[in-house]
Amino acid sequence: MINPFIETLRFFAYFCCSMQFTKRTNTCGELELADSGKRVSLNGWVSQVRDLGGVIFVNLRDRYGVTQLTIPSENKQVYDIAKSLGLEYVISATGIVQKRSSANPNMKTGEVEVLAEIIEILNVSETTPFVVEEEVKASEELRWKYRYLDLRRKKIADNLVLRSKVYQIVHRYFERENFVEIETPILMKSTPEGARDYLVPSRVHKGKFYALPQSPQTYKQILMVSGMDKYVQICKCFRDEDLRADRQPEFTQIDLEMSFVEEKDVFKVVEGVICDIWKEAAGIELNTPFKIMSYDEAMQAFGSDKPDLRVKGEMKIVNITDTVKNTEFKVFNDAISQKGIVAGIKLTAQEVSRKIIDSLTDYVKTLKFGGLGYIKYNADGSSASPMLKFLNDEIQSGIKKDFDANPGDVVFILSGEKKKVLSALGNLRLKLAEMFNLIDETKYEFVWINNFPIFGFEESDNSFYAEHHAFTMPNTEDMAKLDNGYKNPKENIEDLLSIRATCYDLVCNGNEFGSGSIRIHRSDIQQKVFSVLDLTKDQQEEKFGFLLDAFKFGAPPHGGFALGFDRIIAILCGTKDIRETIAFPKTTSAVGLMDSCPSIVEEKQLKELGISINS
Ligand code: AMO
Repeated sequence: MINPFIETLRFFAYFCCSMQFTKRTNTCGELELADSGKRVSLNGWVSQVRDLGGVIFVNLRDRYGVTQLTIPSENKQVYDIAKSLGLEYVISATGIVQKRSSANPNMKTGEVEVLAEIIEILNVSETTPFVVEEEVKASEELRWKYRYLDLRRKKIADNLVLRSKVYQIVHRYFERENFVEIETPILMKSTPEGARDYLVPSRVHKGKFYALPQSPQTYKQILMVSGMDKYVQICKCFRDEDLRADRQPEFTQIDLEMSFVEEKDVFKVVEGVICDIWKEAAGIELNTPFKIMSYDEAMQAFGSDKPDLRVKGEMKIVNITDTVKNTEFKVFNDAISQKGIVAGIKLTAQEVSRKIIDSLTDYVKTLKFGGLGYIKYNADGSSASPMLKFLNDEIQSGIKKDFDANPGDVVFILSGEKKKVLSALGNLRLKLAEMFNLIDETKYEFVWINNFPIFGFEESDNSFYAEHHAFTMPNTEDMAKLDNGYKNPKENIEDLLSIRATCYDLVCNGNEFGSGSIRIHRSDIQQKVFSVLDLTKDQQEEKFGFLLDAFKFGAPPHGGFALGFDRIIAILCGTKDIRETIAFPKTTSAVGLMDSCPSIVEEKQLKELGISINS
């Protein structure tokens, strides 16, 4: 709808200024008391207008900050223009910097104001769908739809600035380390990562499709065969998978690969870039080497392969199966007789009310447990729990000893299938840590998790799958198990599942930051892995033929890693939601609200591609 008032102003702005305007001498985020008396020009967006009768205050915003303009009524011409200003108008203001009568400690420029002598309207703005303010009240949908307005908020703009800074740090680091930055194709054949591909139909080869890279995995391995022994790329990856706060359908990786290396060499390079990022972008010196924990250790102690090590007192899982194995208590008995476990975690010195226990019980019920056992150790030395009547004195004191429980502590116990119990206790640990404020938010706790299992087994289709991908080198110590089991995998399930991979994740504060492995470079080992995965020669050829071909011509020992760039930026920005660090993110249903993608395309385009839609 045309608003005649806005159109008049638009005309006025164009007519008066044409393309000429007074360019800024300063940004809106930098003036201070020492600038008093200077004549300055500022360019920016009007973020607030307060008309107090005899004087108008205008807050002018750019991505650097906000500066107050003061326009007294004595300067009638400027005063009249100021009166006509609307929010988000683009203006140029020129005037003298002066000390404010009452400073605003919440503004970086809060000690000064600019006494405006000239205001030029460079453009007008319609009423925005939401008010652009730091503590934005708009829904996420509205923010994503009008992302350019959302990005006018300093908080979000600063995230992008930090992102850009980290980009430069990463480039500098790898240049110094003699890596070669190589761009790999975006239109490619499907990769061996686990998610669904985004497909691109070929017009020239009807019925054939490119896949967008889930990662440059195959290319970077082939680059090793080519002799490019140190490859790096900050690249976009695309995965059609279930989305959540730390997952986007398109995201960015710092992807690297090196020849003639072992696990510890990859760790060193990755630790180096992380340390540079933390030092240069956040002013924090990290200690290296980072801790290393095996997958088994992490699962046993924290019920997770991404343990958050910031939790005060660690709150490790304690396995009490041995201590309670002779109990008459049916719940424990049933679990143990079915090869399950009894285990728990201790909450140290906290007041735990009935209401909290009820809410925790409800929580474990959502994890498919019948109930949550607990024992409260009272200040007078007694203990309280509905379970105690089923446990004799010896078992009770054994449990107390296992947990090293003291008066004021509460232990929570679950029993059942091992993996399920460990994972539930891992979740409960985080829940308690959050409930009782046990996470030290000032810390960055990095840990390498290594020795992941190389294979998983899918009961429903009675088949093995690669936990990382099919090119992950088995741990040398477990090679004999592969040699023994690969011919008859189904008869060696336990053994094959216990093979560890030379595969590692980097975890920070409970987030998976990155993942990598030493790859298989020898075809005899590769064939044994394929045999466990039940990939026929035809399937191997079809899926990875070009890679296997390349490997025939002198593949060096090699390994690599990929860091989730968005996750790194998110943590540095103090958010869990990576969308806050991406200029134009997608929703959890992979929709780009601003440009309305995905969208229907013209019938003509489909025809050219030989595609018809069945809906
Ligand atoms: P992986 O699949 O573990 O490994 O990915 C590496 C890292 O990328 C990040 N990441 C994501 N970030 C945002 N949104 C997503 N959908 C998403 N998926 C993954 C995570 C993850 O740790 N080719 C191997 C690496 C290698 O072996 O060298 C790979 O891509 O931080």
